[in-house]
Formats: sequence, C-alpha cells, structure tokens
Amino acid sequence: MSRLCRFLKLAFAVVVPVMIGTSAVAFAGTDPAQFAPGGVWRDTDGNPIDAHAGCILFHEGIYYWYGEAKAGRTFLPDCNKSWGGTRVDMAGVSCYSSTNLYDWKSEGLALPAVSGAPGDLNPGNVVERPKIIYNRKTKQFVMWMHIDSADYHEARLGVAVSDSPTGPFTYRGSFRPDAGVWPLNVTDADKTAGTGNYLARDFQKGQMARDMTVFVDDDGKAYIFYASEENSTMHVSLLTDDYLKTAGKYSRILVGRSTEAPAVFKHDGKYYLIASGCTGWDPNTARSAVADSIFGPWKELGNPCAGPDADKTFHGQSAFILPMQDSNKFIFMADRWNKWALASSRYLWLPLEFDGQEKPLVPWRNNWSLSVAKTLNISQASSPTTE
Ligand code: GAL
Repeated sequence: MSRLCRFLKLAFAVVVPVMIGTSAVAFAGTDPAQFAPGGVWRDTDGNPIDAHAGCILFHEGIYYWYGEAKAGRTFLPDCNKSWGGTRVDMAGVSCYSSTNLYDWKSEGLALPAVSGAPGDLNPGNVVERPKIIYNRKTKQFVMWMHIDSADYHEARLGVAVSDSPTGPFTYRGSFRPDAGVWPLNVTDADKTAGTGNYLARDFQKGQMARDMTVFVDDDGKAYIFYASEENSTMHVSLLTDDYLKTAGKYSRILVGRSTEAPAVFKHDGKYYLIASGCTGWDPNTARSAVADSIFGPWKELGNPCAGPDADKTFHGQSAFILPMQDSNKFIFMADRWNKWALASSRYLWLPLEFDGQEKPLVPWRNNWSLSVAKTLNISQASSPTTE
C-alpha cells in the first residue's frame, strides 16, 4: 500500500466521524418545516440519515425512504484500481419511514450486508441504487439493485422480496439481464460481433447492468432502466408480472450517451427521465429526456437544472423522482457525494417544475417547503404511481 493510501486511511478514520458528529442540523421537524438541500438531514433519533442513491415508496399512508447504508463503514481509498475510485464497505440497504416527508424514523436495515461469507451481499462488494416497488397482485415488496464486485467488473442486477415494506427482504440473487434476446430496436449492425460492440459481445451471457432504476406504469407493468454496454447505452427492460425477473422485452435508448443515475416519472401521458453523465462520484451536467412510449424513441431535452452550479447538478447526481401523493407535483431527489467520505454525502431534494411546455425544470432553492412546491405550476399531471 502506498504512503498516500496509508495517510488517507488514517486521516479519514479520524476526521470523518468528527465531521458527521458536528455538522449543523438543517432539516425537518421544525415549524415551519423546510427542506434545506445539502444540509445534514437527521432522523428522529438525531442521527444523520444514511440512505444514499435510493428511492421513496408510498404505501398505505406512509412514505418509506430506502438507500445505500454507508455510515460507520471503513473508508477505502481504492488505490489499486485503475478507475481511481473510492469506496466504503457495503452495509446494506437502509429504510426510514415518515408520514410527512420531513420527519424520518429509522427502520434499520431492510437488507443487511452478510459478513463472513462470500456472495453478493458481502461487505466487500457493491450494492447500489436500491429501488423498491410494490406488486399489487402478489402483495410483495420487490427490491431491485445494482450488484457488483469492488472493482465494478461484474455489472449485475440483484433482486430481493419481502412481505413488509420495512423488510427483512429475502435476497433472491443477481444476474445479467436479457441473455440471448436482441432488443426491440436492434439493427443488423448491432448483431455483428466486433470491437466495441458490447451488445453482441454480451448477447449470450446477458447484458451489463450498473446504475439503474425501476418504474411502475399506470397499468401495473414495471420496467427496469439500466446502464449497459460498458455504461455507454441505457436499456429499458420489461419486468415479469411478479416483478422478479426481466421478461425478455427491452430496447436500447440514449445510445452512446453514457447515461447514469436514471430517475423516471410520468407526466401528462409522457415518460420523462432525468439522469447524469458518467464521471463516477464527481458531478456533471444533468440531462433530461421525454418519450411517448417507454421503449422510445427518447428525445433529449437538455439540462433541467437552473441556478448556481446548474452545470454540475448543484454538485449532485440524480437518484429518484417522487410523485407527491396529495397533489400532482414532483420532487427531484439527488445525492451530493463526498467521494473522500462517502458516508457524509448529503441529499438534494428540490421541487420539479415544467417550462410551460414539455421540459422539466429543477431550479435551485436554499430552502423550501411542501406548501411552496404545491403552488408550482404543473398542469395536467398524471396520477401518482408509487403504489
Ligand atoms: C457513479 C454511480 C454511482 C457509483 C459511482 C462509483 O457514476 O452513479 O452509483 O457507482 O459511480 O464510482
């Protein structure tokens, strides 16, 4: 291990816990309640909320916030990896509950890491971007996530199920999706093996899947969006009716655009996607896209962010878009990664507006409340689809 690595390990073992413990409280539970994007958001026990790159599920009057649990884990400068990343040991998928979106009670780990045994859930591996959906037919909660090795070469999708929103979820395993199936919009050239043709390369063993999200449509059909083909192209793939597998019907979208961190919602009968580019933990310019059919074609609409550092997504990266239950409005949820101290990464939630036509807009706000969000002008929105 290099001297720099040893120094970083020591420095962060000492400094990060102190940073977490002494940051200013800037969130929630106060009167009037407000969101302060980028502040330290604490749960009802006073601990910083530890639910990164996650999602929110609304079920029977309660919001459940899930995400990557990173607190209390060893910081690992990934000195030996060519991609130069940083990581913390994986703790699992955390869950918090709330009735008002401001006050969050910790429900513990919905899917804990499994120490002392090899396998996807070993703390040394990667479990990222957990997304939980509810299946009305089976009455099961289904968790999808990105599963990977520490150096991200596996690129798989994982799935877990539970009868309760807070878990514990039972892990069902991971796989490379859509093996042996060509996408709906395949061309003859796509089928020809050759340098750089990752779709054809991975045809038999299944397509690569890293950053992902799931979306449940009004008709109950669910789709998974995953960054594939060495992160160059996104795939949209239909899930089976029980939501536990891919159904073998998918298309390639945003071809060659290196899109990550997808967040999908539906508004006025159209599908929308907000996502990032591909720069690891470092922020880049967000992009948005719209489609009449979920399988595409998707038309890019540019950067939805407006205000200071809008070209860097306010130093954040998209995670999820929450339809608000008691109005036809949406909340854009993002992560502000601290790549040298991932456990102290912060959250950016901002109300989403439209430009009067079809383009989604996310203007920066230092503070905002749900009552403000509800007065924004978003007309003819579709009904919420979280449950
Ligand atoms: C980002 C991705 C994150 C994480 C990170 C690792 O691009 O969105 O979820 O995988 O890379 O460097």
